[in-house]
Amino acid sequence: MSSTRPRVLSGVQPTGALHLGNWLGAIRNWVDLQDSHDTFFCVVDLHAITVPHDPARLAEDTRSTAALYLACGIDPQRSTVFVQSHVGAHSELCWLLNCLTPLNWLERMIQFKEKALKQGSDVSAGLLDYPVLMAADILLYDADQVPVGEDQKQHLELARDIAQQRLNARFGPKGPDGERMPLLKVPEPLILKEGARVMSLTDGRSKMSKSDPNEASRITLLDPPELITKKIKRAKTDPQLGLEFGNPERPEADNLLGLYALLSGRGREAAAAECASMGWGSFKPLLAEATVEALRPVQQRYAELRSDPGRLDQVLAEGQARAEAVADDTLARVRQALGFLPGPARNR
Ligand code: TYM
Repeated sequence: MSSTRPRVLSGVQPTGALHLGNWLGAIRNWVDLQDSHDTFFCVVDLHAITVPHDPARLAEDTRSTAALYLACGIDPQRSTVFVQSHVGAHSELCWLLNCLTPLNWLERMIQFKEKALKQGSDVSAGLLDYPVLMAADILLYDADQVPVGEDQKQHLELARDIAQQRLNARFGPKGPDGERMPLLKVPEPLILKEGARVMSLTDGRSKMSKSDPNEASRITLLDPPELITKKIKRAKTDPQLGLEFGNPERPEADNLLGLYALLSGRGREAAAAECASMGWGSFKPLLAEATVEALRPVQQRYAELRSDPGRLDQVLAEGQARAEAVADDTLARVRQALGFLPGPARNR
């Protein structure tokens, strides 16, 4: 790992099993970045409690999410893999940023509005604050790029605005000419076109999501082959023959053909040519096989990793130490810029 490489940070919430959207939209893209970037990947457990959660599941879901990162090809020798709540600086920077972020910036967030609507009157302040914690996650590591799915674009814009307008412009150190210099790096989103928006199997117009009450709407990375085949068999279709991309009247065809292109490794052009005149009855078994085969190595590595819990603990402990070294340093810079008295015990 070289510090001259651009830095990347991303994370997934440990709320239930990760699905194809999380993999194709995010984690799969992290793997290649390890060759060219200084990569930090965290399991964002503090985000997972912004909606009602089950304490009996949180630790297990956190472990299984970390194990899935590794099973998908994240290499702890090359990447820092850690749990968000193990690095106290995330919560502390979140508070500092809270006090600089206008409330109406948060009230505009689409994801907040959607999730709040589902929860009725029991919406936590944490849910509103979710994107500020996410900004803290990113800004603590001076990340250059943040690889995520399309749904996170608005949150990244917010993180950029907080860094630029609220921190750098107001509290950046003054240069020789009196101009403010950046205190924190302003991150760029890294959203790859393919896989950035995987849609539900039961409704091609809504996003595949962990919170959809209908489990048939998503394929999780740990679904056994029979279940994958069954879910694909039951996936919503339309009455037309032939699969195609880009027809707004046929969102299911676009989504499932896109999944086939990615999971089979054929790419969009070849997949579109192969399936152009294929009926759904022939296409679905092809997609099921491609999905089962793509997930097979991930599931095998996952089983191996879970059979050796000591190894996972070690990876997370090393990740915590590496992440803390960077995060504490950034937090100290922000505390100093905001004018805090350094605490003797903390040596800041
Ligand atoms: P989460 O857990 O909801 O999603 C994790 C990642 O999966 C992507 N994703 C999708 N991509 C394509 N199609 C889908 N249907 C789909 N569903 C989810 C998300 O875009 C995301 O990249 N708020 C973040 C977690 C987070 C984070 C961060 C990310 C917290 N702090 C700092 C980056 C940097 C989230 O959406 O989690």
